[in-house]
Amino acid sequence: METQGRPVDDVLAELDLARGKDPDPHGAHLFGLTYPTGDAEIERLCHAVHDRMLYSNALNPFRFPEQSRLSEEVVRAVAGLVHLPREGGGTTTSGGTESILMAVLVARQRARARGVERPVVVAPASAHPAYAKAAHFLDLDYRQAPLDPTTLAVDVGALRGLVDERTALVVASAFSYPHGVMDDVAAVAALAAEHGAGCHVDACVGGMVLPFLDGELPAWDFGVPGVTSMSVDLHKYGFVPKGCSVVLHALPDWAGHQWFVYDQWPAGLYGSPAVAGAKSAAPVLAAWAVMQHLGLDGYRRVVAGMVEAAGRIREGFESVDGVVVNGSPVGTVMSWRSERPELSLFAAADLLEQRGWFLNRLTGTGGGEPGLHVMVSPAHEHVIDQLVPDFVDCCEDAVRAGVQSDDAGRYA
Ligand SMILES: Cc1ncc(COP(=O)(O)O)c(C=O)c1O
Repeated sequence: METQGRPVDDVLAELDLARGKDPDPHGAHLFGLTYPTGDAEIERLCHAVHDRMLYSNALNPFRFPEQSRLSEEVVRAVAGLVHLPREGGGTTTSGGTESILMAVLVARQRARARGVERPVVVAPASAHPAYAKAAHFLDLDYRQAPLDPTTLAVDVGALRGLVDERTALVVASAFSYPHGVMDDVAAVAALAAEHGAGCHVDACVGGMVLPFLDGELPAWDFGVPGVTSMSVDLHKYGFVPKGCSVVLHALPDWAGHQWFVYDQWPAGLYGSPAVAGAKSAAPVLAAWAVMQHLGLDGYRRVVAGMVEAAGRIREGFESVDGVVVNGSPVGTVMSWRSERPELSLFAAADLLEQRGWFLNRLTGTGGGEPGLHVMVSPAHEHVIDQLVPDFVDCCEDAVRAGVQSDDAGRYA
């Protein structure tokens, strides 16, 4: 910081200059990290809520009971979509990682209560790094279960060998980040229940997509016996700015394990349900507002549009000789490998980046093969007619140039 301050417009100009060098989240040329809706009304609503709630604090529900009531409506709305039992409950958090941290905490406390000294989290190799992070933060052991090489869902037979009396939590994704495929939630939850462990369904990505899909799906929500917790992110396919997820628990003892309450200091009772203390109410109230605006029909319409767009992208990419989709992705996330030795998809991705398209890369570590990955957002519908020809061109150019790329996958 300089000694002398600067005029506001001067500061904003510098911010805009810096922003202009990064990819534009509205441009629909990114396929993850941001979820552009391309819908001016949703954006107007999110801006307006953030404007109104800019200086809010969601720490104290007694001081701001209305904020707290609307936040509870968000939890209840998500709970309804995923059939949370009446005796269950949950809270909002700042994102998927915090929801997962809370689910692992609750599972650890339950395991300790039944006498397990060093509890274990068992997760598919495709599970998001947030589980390994939670195990690291909360001092649990972490075991990774391999994927079935064809479906890329967790190999339930191999999982069976990893779950035992020390297991606090077994994870299933609905659907997974790397491949967009469903784990067999019913089998995973039954296995967890056999050993007295919890089963967490990671619906951080799928939770606001799966309830609105047409057609048959394998059972994946709280209707499945043995599912004890779930994370659903609203700052992904709930279409609100970052800072909003919901963690849900089926069993009524969750609050006692998740809430932190303390009064051994001079300033009175402090209570908080998750990691953060003071935090903005804006992201959660934006979620409330978008839910009011879209309604169930709106979400159904938006999800149908994304699934249609994902299908067109898939068809376009697979028109390239040797490009093959991984597993059977069910919704808006999918990935491809190259079965043609002379086609490096990383090399094609490098060329696509020169044209301003940022596809995600898979390394193949832990299952599957190296390849490319997309998370489709509503705004992508409007760029498919540019994306697909560019993809086809860049694959051809990569083959012609005989390029091999060294640039491995980076998630974040
Ligand atoms: C399946 C899955 N779970 C959890 C997370 C973590 O969510 P966040 O980045 O909001 O903490 C992600 C993020 O992409 C994810 O894809």
